Amino acid sequence: MICKNLSVNNDGHLTLSGVDVVELAQKYGTPLYIYDENRIRERCRTYVDAMRKAFGDDALPLYASKAASFKQIYRIIGEEGMGTDLVSSGELYTAASVGFPLEKAYFHSNNKTDFDIAYAIDEGVGYFVVDNVEELDAIDRIAGERGVNQKVLLRITPGIDPHTYAAVATGKVDSKFGSAIETGQAEQISKYATELKNIELCGFHCHVGSQVFDSDVFIRASEIMLDFVALMKKKYNFDTKILDLGGGYGVRYLKEQPEIDIAANIHEVASFMKAHCEKLGIEMPAIRMEPGRSIVADAGLTVYTAGTVKRIPGYKNYVSVDGGMADNPRYALYGSPYTICLANRMNATVPTFKCTIAGRCCESGDLIQENVTLPGDIKRGDMIAVLTTGAYNYSMASNYNRLGKPPVIMLRDGRDYIAVKRESLADICKNDI
Ligand code: LLP
Repeated sequence: MICKNLSVNNDGHLTLSGVDVVELAQKYGTPLYIYDENRIRERCRTYVDAMRKAFGDDALPLYASKAASFKQIYRIIGEEGMGTDLVSSGELYTAASVGFPLEKAYFHSNNKTDFDIAYAIDEGVGYFVVDNVEELDAIDRIAGERGVNQKVLLRITPGIDPHTYAAVATGKVDSKFGSAIETGQAEQISKYATELKNIELCGFHCHVGSQVFDSDVFIRASEIMLDFVALMKKKYNFDTKILDLGGGYGVRYLKEQPEIDIAANIHEVASFMKAHCEKLGIEMPAIRMEPGRSIVADAGLTVYTAGTVKRIPGYKNYVSVDGGMADNPRYALYGSPYTICLANRMNATVPTFKCTIAGRCCESGDLIQENVTLPGDIKRGDMIAVLTTGAYNYSMASNYNRLGKPPVIMLRDGRDYIAVKRESLADICKNDI
């Protein structure tokens, strides 16, 4: 199994955190997102502990909300002492509505609207991670109107290619995010920020990409960022209080992929950074990291009911499920790999039936995965589980074809509870006039 929270019980059913996935599917219906709360907490603790040990007590991991944002997630990460990275008023509203301590919230995005800025300031957001000059001016103006001195970090593009898939590589000079060091714009915007009356520049942020396995990427990014911190000290006598290294640690979607030892990795990055700070003669800033995927991905899975099994002799086989790109657009968008299994018959004969798992939306690209091998007697009513769907599935889900979003069921110490209800038919048109 690709994660230790998965197993098979005596009935040959898949279990997550010891709970029978098939029974949950029968109880709540399919498609169904299931999350193992204990696993989420374990991952939070790994980051909180590792960062404190490696960087000191002022270090803080920020959960990247975009990976999965709903009320219960903020309760969990809040209890675990994490901060959070938000990118919209909607994510902020969700966090605020369960009392998440917003002084530990960092508002990102490459295009914050005036509404976002005003709303976040009024709610007491801790920091904005500012992308560009227009935004800096808008925050200065809106903070000024409220008599607030707003703390910000600046998003800097270190100019690194992390060798992940193009859609999630963000640290290159030509990225839509941030200001590049190479072009001189990072220095310009930093100097400008220090001159604004209603802005307190606290430091810098970078994020090089997502689903990154190579720890060297974080070391190279931190080296470039510390060099920038040293330049700002030397040239402008600016003291960087916070350095945010972004998110990006990869997770295991397939057996062939490695499992990253997060704590060892953080330790490695910290050792390098300490030595580099010494070499540059600067103080180590308080460090932030923004893990999203690696907090929630392998805590989650999706269960579907198989419908049509279509054999096109000499061509291809399809197994259609009762969900698809509306609840998981990642294969359609990025060709993302997933491990798929027959949840109700895990011990069935050696799988030999090569097929494509197709969704139920009205377009050919609505696929969950191609080249999957399942038992040849797969039939309507069987239950198909797609593993490692805890990140960027619920959060990227849509109502395409007016499909309702599946519910989110959480498991805590062997008990299941609803974190997000299934969208009903009435919910689908609740805003229609
Ligand atoms: N911080 C920033 C500024 C980010 O842009 C991201 C992800 C993260 C943190 C969290 O990265 P993580 O630890 O989750 O890798 N929809 C894509 C992923 C987009 C990631 C965008 N930014 C997917 O489904 O693979």
